Amino acid sequence: MKVMRITQPGGPEVLALDERPEPTPGPNEVQVRVRASALNRADLLQVRGVYPPPPDVPQDVPGLEYAGEVVAVGPRARKFKVGDRVMGLVGGGAWSEVLTTHEREVLRMPHGMDFADAAALPEAYLTAWDALVLQADLRPGETVLVHAVASGVGAAAALLCRAMGVQVVGTGRNAEKLARASGWGVGRTVLCASSPPVFADAVLEATGGRGADVCLDLVGGNYLPESLKAMAPRGRLMQVGSVAGTRVDLDLGVVMRKRLRITGTVLRSRHAEEKMALTQAAERQLLPLFDSGALKAVVDEVLPMAELRSGLERMADNTTVGKVVVRWE
Ligand SMILES: NC(=O)c1ccc[n+]([C@@H]2O[C@H](COP(=O)([O-])OP(=O)(O)OC[C@H]3O[C@@H](n4cnc5c(N)ncnc54)[C@H](OP(=O)(O)O)[C@@H]3O)[C@@H](O)[C@H]2O)c1
Repeated sequence: MKVMRITQPGGPEVLALDERPEPTPGPNEVQVRVRASALNRADLLQVRGVYPPPPDVPQDVPGLEYAGEVVAVGPRARKFKVGDRVMGLVGGGAWSEVLTTHEREVLRMPHGMDFADAAALPEAYLTAWDALVLQADLRPGETVLVHAVASGVGAAAALLCRAMGVQVVGTGRNAEKLARASGWGVGRTVLCASSPPVFADAVLEATGGRGADVCLDLVGGNYLPESLKAMAPRGRLMQVGSVAGTRVDLDLGVVMRKRLRITGTVLRSRHAEEKMALTQAAERQLLPLFDSGALKAVVDEVLPMAELRSGLERMADNTTVGKVVVRWE
């Protein structure tokens, strides 16, 4: 099978197509012929050599999500059969023509969806839904502040909030990208052209002075102090990304006075049992929303796998809106 592998640490230029033996499924695993995968910020860091993958996945083949067809099942696997169209998250190795994965980490594809759209769903939606709904306990009628709202995870969060009847205030640094967010139901966008960013007054204005009940922070760094100012009493801030850095000066007085909760979260390094539980919950609660069309993929572009490098360069340049998908031809 073909894989897109890291030849040495560096930028997107160090990625190259190569050949590997196909992996065979273990007892509870399925073997999937990958039709499409998608790009993530974590891939950029892994290619640079600063984000080692978990030990149980191919170390030099990135890729965290896929959509494809089941081509074989292990002797104890029961959930899927050969020919089923499936999608899911893996700890790495999705930029391969074939992968194996535990059947309980696999989701069937939404009805009527093509492989390219399905490959754009798992990382963005499972991250946004897990953070907002399972962890922050988001309720209809609340307001969410989403940083980098035009990102892959940001767009998924916006559509999820629309489906739940939740108001969104979204930030971003690029006016053209922000303009796309109104199409996802984002009622108010704030252009953050300066550093440190300024958005708290706009959030307070949009919420009648109350502030955001939940903040989905995909940016981190110096966004955090301003986010605390923008939060409602007893607000929940979910720290999901850190593209602006991991260090910051904070006024803990604000955290205490407003009785805020700050929660950090990652998906990739979770124990397999936790990932399986998340996948099974998503099968029950999220999949019906894709089937009905309430949630959809937001795809920036679909590239042949051989052109993956140009997609990764655009992601690094912050010019993408939603997800970049790569497909095997
Ligand atoms: N915890 C988890 O499990 C998990 C899972 C998935 C993703 N993530 C993280 O979530 C974040 C978003 O991921 P994604 O795939 O949605 O990213 P993405 O589609 O690549 O978009 C990220 C956006 O962040 C903005 N940005 C970049 N650098 C910035 C800076 N210094 N200050 C302010 N904004 C900046 C850019 O948009 P503008 O410049 O246009 O505003 C960029 O397009 C990433 O940090 C990613 O690592 C975490």
